[in-house]
Amino acid sequence: MIRLKTIFFVHPLKSKPIIILNFKTYREATGEGALTLARVAERVRDEQGVNIMVAVQHTDIYRIASSVELPVLAQHVDAREPGSWTGHVSAEAVKASGAAGSLVNHSERRLTLADIGSCISALRGLGLLSVLCTDTPETSAGGAALSPDMLAVEPPELIGTGISVSKAKPEVVTKTVEVVKKINSGVIILCGAGISVAEDVSRAIELGTDGVLLASAYVKAKDPYGLLTSMAKAALGAFKG
Ligand code: G3P
Repeated sequence: MIRLKTIFFVHPLKSKPIIILNFKTYREATGEGALTLARVAERVRDEQGVNIMVAVQHTDIYRIASSVELPVLAQHVDAREPGSWTGHVSAEAVKASGAAGSLVNHSERRLTLADIGSCISALRGLGLLSVLCTDTPETSAGGAALSPDMLAVEPPELIGTGISVSKAKPEVVTKTVEVVKKINSGVIILCGAGISVAEDVSRAIELGTDGVLLASAYVKAKDPYGLLTSMAKAALGAFKG
């Protein structure tokens, strides 16, 4: 017997704010350090009930995905089918390691437009999440048409500065939200660059996003648990769903 479980499908990620923690290649977030930071993130997710994901180095995907019940993302995949491509990392390979998806076109790992399209469709074909990074409302508009699951707008000049996009360039966020929603309302919108304190997160959500992508503030925090807890609470407080 076929039973209709739900009448309306609500994207599970859309019902709660999202915080993606990018570990980049920070020493503190490599190997055992990455596992420790992922465990802290898992604890905060369990206590606060927000969506938290970690984007880790390829070499740490298996370690973390095997030990922590959080969606683990790769920071990059190559637009290559499995085969004769030495030194490349395919979407299949990150899936086999336990990744739930990948960032695509991070500003520290830019791709050509053709490769962005190939990566997003390869990830989709494997049932993996794609998080497309863009730098302006204009590139976000182009990116939205490729139907990534999520899109994170990050002005590169603010990355790693501690000056938050949501405070310093709110117009980049609001304009991105406007154009992306117009082009493809199914895309989950995040913003990032300089997100450092809880208020940066609530401000990002008040500007119309579903959450944030951040790196240095979390990885370098003296008290990552305290910082992430405050960010999760701020996100929940601002989120209307
Ligand atoms: O991917 C997140 C990122 O590029 C922002 O970095 O250090 O400014 O939070 P950060």
